[in-house]
Amino acid sequence: MPEQLKTALSELARTALNALNLARTKTEIEEVRVRYLGTKGSVSGLMRQMGSLPKDVRPQVGALANRIKDELTRALADRLTDLSAQSQGPALDVTLPGRRTRRGRRHPISRTIEEILGIFTRMGFNVAEGPEVETDYYCFEALNFPPDHPARDMQDTLFVSDKVVLRTHTSPMQVRTMEAQRPPVWVVVPGKTYRRDSDVTHTPMFHQIEGLVVDQGITFGHLKGVLTSFVHQFFGPDVPVRFRPSFFPFTEPSAEVDIGCVICGGPGCRVCKNSGWLEILGSGMVDPEVYKFVGYDPEQVTGFAFGMGIERVAMLKYGIDDIRLFFDNDLRFLKQF
Ligand code: DAH
Repeated sequence: MPEQLKTALSELARTALNALNLARTKTEIEEVRVRYLGTKGSVSGLMRQMGSLPKDVRPQVGALANRIKDELTRALADRLTDLSAQSQGPALDVTLPGRRTRRGRRHPISRTIEEILGIFTRMGFNVAEGPEVETDYYCFEALNFPPDHPARDMQDTLFVSDKVVLRTHTSPMQVRTMEAQRPPVWVVVPGKTYRRDSDVTHTPMFHQIEGLVVDQGITFGHLKGVLTSFVHQFFGPDVPVRFRPSFFPFTEPSAEVDIGCVICGGPGCRVCKNSGWLEILGSGMVDPEVYKFVGYDPEQVTGFAFGMGIERVAMLKYGIDDIRLFFDNDLRFLKQF
């Protein structure tokens, strides 16, 4: 096969593919097709010259010309496919509305804690937190629990070791706070507490908020004023409050605080056990015995303390009848807050 013809064919293939690459529209691609493969096109022109070639080289030239024709045909088809894919627009349609990410929200227990802390900090209390794994000393001994007090029983307390427990209440922070500072003390302590207990109103882990005020001249009147104000801010200004005598080893005198039943509003129902009242917290004047453990002088200062269960007040405020709902984390429940 004459070298000249071979070079001419390869050159033709190269320019044709080049032209195709530069074509940007369907029309331009069609122009390329006509120019090279059309009846009057260059490839066809070369094919027509075959007749004038010596017989022995014809098959060779014919094969090469056919290969070039096939290659070009395929390249044209590919370019058309590319172009139509592009004209369907970009794969990402930025004008479509976005897929909504669902927003989470704070857990009702966290929200209740925040709300309660807000009420007390506005009254001038500071906020502190303490260890959940606590020694017998802080959890019981320094709070004036006698060695045989039932609260120290394995029935209620979860033990880590003989003298180390999971705190059964937040009251140990009364002792830790007084150890760490001199009066005046105005502190509230939120946190997790643990007891061996489980039913519709008890879970082995629950939350409390402890309060402690110690200064010169603090009286039971301050206790009543602070706690009444708390109830009215948290449950509503018209909710009745009463202080009922009670007993705790670390307070004397002690009182439990009841509110008028928020479920039935007074006449009595299942929740208030027909009494019309609901107990919401324990409180009292700090027992002078406790001051001895922390080096405060009971002749110089007096104080009051209180402790309440967060789940309990949240259940009453929101009308929830099973404490376990807080910890199942069922979105249908959580979404309501
Ligand atoms: N710690 C008590 C409990 O868990 C609650 C309590 C009662 C806390 C009286 C106090 C208080 O600070 O003065 O049941």
